[in-house]
Amino acid sequence: MAAYEYETHDYDVVVVGAGGAGLRATLGMAEQGLRTACVTKVFPTRSHTVAAQGGIAASLSNMGPDHWQWHLYDTVKGSDWLGDTDAMEYLAREAPKAVYELEHYGVPFSRTEQGKIYQRPFGGHTTEFGEGPPVQRTCAAADRTGHAILHTLYGQSLKNNAEFYIEYFAIDLLMEDGACVGVVCWKLDDGSIHVFRSKMVVLATGGYGRAYFSATSAHTCTGDGGGMVARAGLPLQDMEFVQFHPTGIYGSGCLITEGARGEGGYLTNSDGERFMERYAPTYKDLASRDVVSRCMTMEIRAGRGVGEQGDHIHLHLNHLPPETLAERLPGISESARIFAGVDLTKEPIPVLPTVHYNMGGIPTNYWGEVLKPTKSNEDAVVPGLMAVGEAGCASVHGANRLGSNSLIDLVVFGRAAAIRAGKILDRNSAIPQASKMTIDQVLDRFDNVRYAAGQMPTAELRLEMQKTMQADAAVFRTDKTLAEGVDKMNGVAGKLDDLQVIDRSLVWNSDLMETLELYNLMPNAVATITAAEARKESRGAHAHEDYPDRDDENWRKHSLIWFKGSKASLGFRGVHLDPLTSHNEGGIDLKKIAPKARVY
Ligand code: FUM
Repeated sequence: MAAYEYETHDYDVVVVGAGGAGLRATLGMAEQGLRTACVTKVFPTRSHTVAAQGGIAASLSNMGPDHWQWHLYDTVKGSDWLGDTDAMEYLAREAPKAVYELEHYGVPFSRTEQGKIYQRPFGGHTTEFGEGPPVQRTCAAADRTGHAILHTLYGQSLKNNAEFYIEYFAIDLLMEDGACVGVVCWKLDDGSIHVFRSKMVVLATGGYGRAYFSATSAHTCTGDGGGMVARAGLPLQDMEFVQFHPTGIYGSGCLITEGARGEGGYLTNSDGERFMERYAPTYKDLASRDVVSRCMTMEIRAGRGVGEQGDHIHLHLNHLPPETLAERLPGISESARIFAGVDLTKEPIPVLPTVHYNMGGIPTNYWGEVLKPTKSNEDAVVPGLMAVGEAGCASVHGANRLGSNSLIDLVVFGRAAAIRAGKILDRNSAIPQASKMTIDQVLDRFDNVRYAAGQMPTAELRLEMQKTMQADAAVFRTDKTLAEGVDKMNGVAGKLDDLQVIDRSLVWNSDLMETLELYNLMPNAVATITAAEARKESRGAHAHEDYPDRDDENWRKHSLIWFKGSKASLGFRGVHLDPLTSHNEGGIDLKKIAPKARVY
């Protein structure tokens, strides 16, 4: 048995992760006087939200008419009718409030001539329930919106006395009788072990983009929350839906914001044709992301890709006034120069659909409470555990997320988790205790990984996983590629038993940390390909060539994956169709959001 000494810390709430969702939850908890710790493996303002560029969606109507119900409709259609109605209604209704709060906290949004928050068009955001022209709904701070939000939320959290544990790696949850009572962490700079005990743990650990070879995600996006939840015997939901952003820079995968097309940019093929006009006659380059990524892939497959190998597409911004580019898109002007060697005032940027976002994650209700779904569709809440942001699946994005609905998801649901915790946590009750046996189990696993003495270096196995996912769980999928992919990924996951950790020290040991991260990535990756293989239809980001149509009768349901050891098992549950408020109370007209053909 492993013998580690550890320090204990008691809090009302422990938030794991300091991106947009983690910091908004931390701030909301601390503002209410809850004793709140935020533990994070990177410095807060280096969390991946810092890379979010184009903006945050909210129906403020600053640039023309808009309505939360139109935002809801677009989100429902964007999700390809897989999102949960209550969660999507909550998102669209609360979005304006959440953005004004950010403004008051000090986020330096770009401004209109009248001094209002500037909003730009983004893909799939429309007016009049999809019947009107595109809407300018995406609130922006130039093309560095995530950076602006993250810095503001960190400052506000400190001001409200939240306590930060920086460069602490969360090893595993402490679960007692089905409830979460804390989390065990490893402090990276001095090797010490820390047991955090709390009434509530909030997982805000982000996505798992690094399960793929080419992603816009930071190298830190390793699905740590999903990995911990899977090991705790809880399910992951809708993992087959992985978003490819249409405009990653060819070669490096670095993001070029959709805001580029929002500001008037357009895509061309090798004939110089603006091909999106053919596929999406109304919204063209501003169709939703899954649609644009598929069209780009079809153009390349049809031999109309650009470049020496005809394997990418051009994004043009060179027709826009240089002042607009400098004012609205300074960040991508720099990225295009550094990562593609392109002066975007003169030349097009070479781009390719690139893994960007995970619609699936840890199932929650719209308060962020983690659910233990049952087959009868009656969800039980896991006491003491919440998940927010990309780690969670509320589910508002269903099968495809609209651009700029991610930042709003982070702040709306981070805030919702804090509101809920403020209501349900008893400030006077004792902090729950984990038994010695539970803590020892976590430390034994940590020790087993630390002393892994197999044959395979972590980087080699990670690359095998990334290449397999890139090839077999791609923009287009077939029965054959998916069946092969499941077999290959089960083989890849089996090799975890053969890992070799060379450096056994506990101080700044990146070999050990990357191995723990690989243990987190793996269940996320296996769940993705397993759920993709099971879903026999096409919906949103899941484009199945053998089943090209959406099948609402049989497949309008969420997939669930549980793990027992490395073995995955699959289940399903129904979509929540009931709204929070009825049409008569000023809420949703369900007829308006009923499923129909999804054309842009
Ligand atoms: O294109 C972008 O700026 C990304 C935004 C998003 O994923 O929401």
